[in-house]
Amino acid sequence: MQKQVTFKSSSCLPSFRKLLFPLLFITILTVFLIGRDISFPYIDFVTSTSHENIVLPSALHSQISHLQNQLGDLLEQLHTENTDSKLVVKFTDLVLGIAVSVDRLADKLSHLYGDPPISQNCTNKMEEELGDSDDSEVEEGSMGERIFNSGKLHNYTSPKPNRQVGKKNFLGVEAVYPSIGLSCIGAASSIDQYMTYKAYGICPDDWVVAQKLILGGCDPLPRRRCFSRSPQQYSKPLPINSSLWNPPTGTNILWTQYKCKDYSCLVSNQTIGRRGFFKCSDCFNLSKRGWEVPSNETESAEFTIDEVLRLKSGDIRIGLDFSPTTGTFAAIMRERNVTIASATLNLGAPFNEVIALRGLLPLYISVGSRLPFFDNTLDIIHSTLFLDGWIGLEVLQYVLFDWDRVLRPKGILWVDRFFCSKKDMQLYLDEFTKLGYRKLLWRVVPKTDKQGNELFFSAVLEKPQRS
Ligand SMILES: *[C@@H]1O[C@H](CO)[C@@H](O)[C@H](O)[C@H]1NC(C)=O
Ligand SMILES: *[C@@H]1O[C@H](CO)[C@@H](O)[C@H](O)[C@H]1NC(C)=O
Ligand SMILES: *[C@@H]1O[C@H](CO)[C@@H](O)[C@H](O)[C@H]1NC(C)=O
Ligand SMILES: *[C@@H]1O[C@H](CO)[C@@H](O)[C@H](O)[C@H]1NC(C)=O
Ligand SMILES: *[C@@H]1O[C@H](CO)[C@@H](O)[C@H](O)[C@H]1NC(C)=O
Ligand SMILES: *[C@@H]1O[C@H](CO)[C@@H](O)[C@H](O)[C@H]1NC(C)=O
Repeated sequence: MQKQVTFKSSSCLPSFRKLLFPLLFITILTVFLIGRDISFPYIDFVTSTSHENIVLPSALHSQISHLQNQLGDLLEQLHTENTDSKLVVKFTDLVLGIAVSVDRLADKLSHLYGDPPISQNCTNKMEEELGDSDDSEVEEGSMGERIFNSGKLHNYTSPKPNRQVGKKNFLGVEAVYPSIGLSCIGAASSIDQYMTYKAYGICPDDWVVAQKLILGGCDPLPRRRCFSRSPQQYSKPLPINSSLWNPPTGTNILWTQYKCKDYSCLVSNQTIGRRGFFKCSDCFNLSKRGWEVPSNETESAEFTIDEVLRLKSGDIRIGLDFSPTTGTFAAIMRERNVTIASATLNLGAPFNEVIALRGLLPLYISVGSRLPFFDNTLDIIHSTLFLDGWIGLEVLQYVLFDWDRVLRPKGILWVDRFFCSKKDMQLYLDEFTKLGYRKLLWRVVPKTDKQGNELFFSAVLEKPQRS
């Protein structure tokens, strides 16, 4: 990527940049918390680079680098000071403002130096730093000003001052900073295209593009100022006493981007293989219930909902089902007065639409995203058909830690029929064990449909009270 090259040659200061962005964040936070009248210098998008013919002496480069270093040291020292002092906070903020400006200046000038005065080991060090952590992506992205062309996107990400300029809103900020996922940089042309639309017009029928961007880590997507398309003949949904278990009205779904063009196609056994989805293949058949009939423990890893709820009688009220699902789990839980949000993408079929038409709460979110729940809030997280042997251990860890974050103390994690090859099972089990949860239920049984090389694992685990 061209941008990366520019960034690498811009300086030999990984520690400065590594320091700058966490500090930026901490300072915003501190300023916010202390609530003082401090204006924060922002980074805006500048698209033009018109002085390509100028070549600057490389001595300037090292001087700027030196300056960056000194500012970095200063900020580090300031940061270890007692930040309860408002004066120190204000001072830190000012220094940080200067540091950001210098950094931007360095970046702007980086391609104008005659001889990049970079010793080999600096570059190596930088490459190491770039390669080894998520922070480095953030750094690179923060310097990615010229990557996007879409004017709407530049407008989108620039700070939006409050109506009364200079006055803080209830969030404690003078401006709103709309954000987009940094992976959008890797998908610049798609997102440029995504942001090409007519304001106040009807949006392009492009949710498939949007979902691909989300799956690629360009998440959250920018919002748009156009009207989303809706089905032409939308009629009011079924009332709740019949919506849970009856197929929704097909005309309430916009079918254009699906292989199936009506609801019966999603369930008919004539269309198998031509429906556009395979996970959860019979879950559009809303007569199929589950988790109700006790199973033979040596043959099946399915627990019943009543068995699980009995473990914590009356304590389970709200939670999340993270599964490819049309909401059947949430529907059964609703009948037991438990409110469940069902998190799924639209994997080739109208999963979210159907959940909503059933009168349940769909949560449109990818596995790469932090859950939109606050810490220690949910009573239960259930997951099936999603966590399986495909998942890398590191991703699994991030998923589990995020689930742990949102579960309340003594909340339960219900891992429902996780499956993987026999040889991998121990690795995965270790990851679950490392959470330090109490095992309320735990079952490993052979999965019999694939020559016995796979196992099912189910567990109900209780989050400990940590303090
Ligand atoms: C960006 O915002 C400016 C100021 O509001 C406006 O003049 C310009 O047309 C906008 N550009 C796009 C592409 O929307
Ligand atoms: C569902 O609710 C509506 C209105 O509340 C009521 O008229 C109807 O009889 C109910 N249907 C069933 C099957 O309970
Ligand atoms: C399809 O469903 C019909 C009844 O709904 C059933 O008789 C038939 O055996 C099914 N065919 C397949 C291939 O499952
Ligand atoms: C839906 O599931 C029910 C219960 O398992 C079954 O009896 C019915 O045949 C299924 N419908 C279709 C169209 O497959
Ligand atoms: C459970 O399944 C095993 C193996 O199929 C069988 O031997 C056993 O009798 C079953 N137990 C019950 C309670 O049905
Ligand atoms: C759910 O709540 C309703 C209203 O409070 C109550 O009548 C019903 O018995 C409850 N159902 C269960 C399964 O607890």
